[in-house]
Amino acid sequence: MAKRDSFASGLGVLAAMAGSAVGLGNLWRFPYLVGTNGGAAFIIIYLAFVFLLALPIMYSEFIIGRRSQANVFSAYKVLAPGTKWCTVGLIYVLASLFIISFYCVVGGWTINYFWKAITFQFSVADTSVLGSMFNNTVTSSVEPLVYMLIFLGATALIVMAGIKDGIERYTKIMMPVLFIIVVVVAIRSMTLPGAGAGLEFLFKPDFSKVTGNTLLNALGQAFFSLSIGCGTIMTYGSYVNKKENIAGLSAETAITDTTFAIIAGLAIMPAVFAFGISPAEGPGLVFVTLPYIFAQLPFGAFLAILFFFMLFIAAITSSISQLEVIVSYLKEEFNMSRKLAIFLSLAVIVIFGVLCSLSQGTLADVKIFGLNFFDFFDQTSANIFLPLGGFFAVIFVGWKMKKPDVVDEFTSGGTRKLNKFFVNFSYYSIKYLAPIVVAVVLISGLI
Ligand code: TRP
Repeated sequence: MAKRDSFASGLGVLAAMAGSAVGLGNLWRFPYLVGTNGGAAFIIIYLAFVFLLALPIMYSEFIIGRRSQANVFSAYKVLAPGTKWCTVGLIYVLASLFIISFYCVVGGWTINYFWKAITFQFSVADTSVLGSMFNNTVTSSVEPLVYMLIFLGATALIVMAGIKDGIERYTKIMMPVLFIIVVVVAIRSMTLPGAGAGLEFLFKPDFSKVTGNTLLNALGQAFFSLSIGCGTIMTYGSYVNKKENIAGLSAETAITDTTFAIIAGLAIMPAVFAFGISPAEGPGLVFVTLPYIFAQLPFGAFLAILFFFMLFIAAITSSISQLEVIVSYLKEEFNMSRKLAIFLSLAVIVIFGVLCSLSQGTLADVKIFGLNFFDFFDQTSANIFLPLGGFFAVIFVGWKMKKPDVVDEFTSGGTRKLNKFFVNFSYYSIKYLAPIVVAVVLISGLI
């Protein structure tokens, strides 16, 4: 068999992992969740979930992937032969399919809005005009489908080139560009007159608004934003060599992702408050509120171009990671070429994507469990599939794998000196803390 593709360097792994983590989750989803869940209190709960829960889950996925050097389905077969654990791998493939199906729709919107920005269509500073522009953009039948296909095509081209020459190569260029742009937009936003109220909203907690649903939203967002719970980190981990530091790379990914989320908050909230808009605008915050703000700023047209370009880059470095989970599974389990695996995945994704896109307009009245297709794919994956998938990963590493094997992964086969307390703390977080808290929040949130 030909040698399996792999990442060429630790920095490349980090770029790919951070590229996966930083995405629409940070720039589009996080700000509106903060806005609708009470601001700073939500952020604090979110941070606690990231570092106490999401990190042990990320370690676990990484450990399973790297130890098995296989796709999500065979990973469990390699590490627990003859058991039913590989079914979990199938759940990951399905969850990834659900996620990319609505993700590519929003990815299409980002390209559409980038086009609107470079053709100066945001020049009218009127929220109702911009609101109906967004409404028309997402509810029409054909146009968003075209943009969705462009987005999926670009995703497929990168994945087609493989790990080293595709994913690693592109994320290494795109991530630094992304960082510079978000910082520029944040500085502009924070220096507006009246920006202080936005900063207060982001940093002064009011816990009276916290409910069970806030907790579930924060949990779902932590999973979604870090790309955990559906085998993304497991798949990337399977292309990582034995020398790399699992704990270090995971922590760096979590820190990068959180930094991006906070800076995205700083780019958006101060401007929202400075222009007297409600932070609870919801999903339209980025596509309606920001163009309104850009329209009124000096050099706003330029900022708009930068911003929507950034949104597109962030989205595509994430969608490639979602696609790779499905592609590596098909390719290795059914012995097909990368090309055929991509083609078959896309055939299904396009069907689901069309349903998600049309559910914004033509199919708005078709409901599954009271949700349109888009919200169904979004909410079942973030709030149910991902916590469940993460739960299984920590249970597997904590209870099915042997502790010396887990320690062996943490210490890169004993070559890496790690603080004993740190290793034990991480191990027991994987074994007890993470599964219990995830189960409690999941169950209470669903009730
Ligand atoms: N984390 C990405 C974001 O914040 C989205 C993403 C990529 C993702 N891969 C994933 C979400 C796997 C859940 C699972 O936009």
